[in-house]
Amino acid sequence: MKFSADSFLSDIHAANADASPRHAVCEVVARAVSEPEAMARAFGPLTHGHSTVLHRSSDLLVLHIVWPPEIHVEPHEHNLWAVMGIYRGIEDNTFYRRTDEGGIAREGTARLEPRDTRIMGEEAIHAVDIPTLAPTGAIHVYGGDLFTVARSEFDSATSEERPFDWEKSEREFAEMNARWEARTG
Ligand SMILES: [Fe+2]
Repeated sequence: MKFSADSFLSDIHAANADASPRHAVCEVVARAVSEPEAMARAFGPLTHGHSTVLHRSSDLLVLHIVWPPEIHVEPHEHNLWAVMGIYRGIEDNTFYRRTDEGGIAREGTARLEPRDTRIMGEEAIHAVDIPTLAPTGAIHVYGGDLFTVARSEFDSATSEERPFDWEKSEREFAEMNARWEARTG
């Protein structure tokens, strides 16, 4: 089958109006990533890491994310439900919970591979690692506008909490893209 971003997005919109949007959205994402080759063809070769907005509104954000090889994203929260789906590569997730002492503690891990999806609740805190020298292609859907939501990130070593820093995130993508380019020429 051919993957079409337009029909995918209209299915996501319909799912977001469901009584349980996160589960309905997850079904749509699962259907899309069940044919990872079709998605890979539609999005084209993964040549550099980026996070591209496919849809943004106050109640829904759909991102096409290409993770550059070996990137590490420190633990962070979204304060929104989220659905992830993978169509290429590997996305290692480490989940954390807040502790009574005001820090965070590791709770578990999940390796997501092509055809895998995962729903995260509003309270979820996760770190992302791409463990390979290959990029990862993913769809992330959020039940709100992640760009304007007040939320935190954490230092994984010290548990220190600070406001999520989009500029730092962009710098990390650029740095890992440069490393990737240097390696592959
Ligand atoms: Fe995240």
